Amino acid sequence: MTSLPEQINETTRFLQQQGFETPTTGIVLGTGLGELIKKIDIRKSISYKDIPHFPVSTVESHKGHLIFGHIGRTSVIAMQGRFHYYEGYSMQQITFPIRVMKALGIQQLLLSNAAGGMNPAFKKGDLVLLDDHINLLPENPLRGAHHPSFGPRFPDMSRPYDPQLSQKLQVAAEAAGKPLHKGIYVAVTGPNLETRAEYRFLRLIGADVVGMSTIPEVIVANQMGLPCAAVSVVTDECDPDNLVPVAIEEIIAVAGKADKVLSGIFAEVIAEMT
Ligand code: HPA
Repeated sequence: MTSLPEQINETTRFLQQQGFETPTTGIVLGTGLGELIKKIDIRKSISYKDIPHFPVSTVESHKGHLIFGHIGRTSVIAMQGRFHYYEGYSMQQITFPIRVMKALGIQQLLLSNAAGGMNPAFKKGDLVLLDDHINLLPENPLRGAHHPSFGPRFPDMSRPYDPQLSQKLQVAAEAAGKPLHKGIYVAVTGPNLETRAEYRFLRLIGADVVGMSTIPEVIVANQMGLPCAAVSVVTDECDPDNLVPVAIEEIIAVAGKADKVLSGIFAEVIAEMT
C-alpha cells in the first residue's frame, strides 16, 4: 500500500497531466447544489471513478465529477458532489480531494451544504454563513499517522472559517439582496435525520444548523493553512416542538430553489479573485 502523501502525489500528477493546471480556488458543492457548475467555463471534467485513489460517490443526488475551468479570470477546481461519512468512507477518503486540490495549488476553498435549521430565526431556503462549528462526527481526519508535510499535528481551530473570505461572501450576498445569516454548524453522522430530542440537544449545545458534512474538509483545510468559507442552505426547519416529517426529496428540492442565489454569490466572489 502506498502512503497517503504518495497517493496524493500520484493523483495530483494524474490531474496535472489531464490539464488541471494550477487552479487557484477550490469549490465543494453540497447536496442539491450544482448550479455553480453552469457558471464555470469548463476545460476538463473527470468522473471520480476515473481518478486514481479517488473514492466513488454512492449518493444518487451527487454527480461525482471533478471539474476544472474558469469563472471570470479565476481558475477553479470544483467537486460536483462530495463524500460523506455515512456512505462508509473513512475520514481520510472524505478529505483526500481537499489535499489533492491544495497540492494542485488552490489558495482558498469555498464549500456549500444542505442543513437543517435549528435557530428559530432561520427559514427554509435561507442561507447561513458558517462562523464556527461543533464536530460530533465519531472520527477525525487527522487521526493516525502524521505527515509533517500536511501541516501541524495539532492545528489551531480558533478561526476555522476565514474572516476575510467570509466577509467577501457576505458583501456579495448583500449586493444580491439576500444577506446571509451567521451561524454555528454541527456535523452528525446521519444518514437518518434527528429526533426531536436530538434537535433540542443540538440547539442547546449552541448549534444553529445541522448537517452531515463539511467539518472534515474544513479541519483538513485548516491543518494545511488553506483559507476556507462555507455556506449552508437551510432545507428544513428543525423545531422540536413542531417537527414535521421531512423526506430527502424535499431537502433536495429546497436546496435546488436556493441554489441560484447561492451560486451567484459564490461566482461573484470567485470572479473577483486573481
Ligand atoms: N439534519 C441533518 N442533516 C440535514 C438536515 C437535518 O435536519 N437537513 C439537511 N441535512
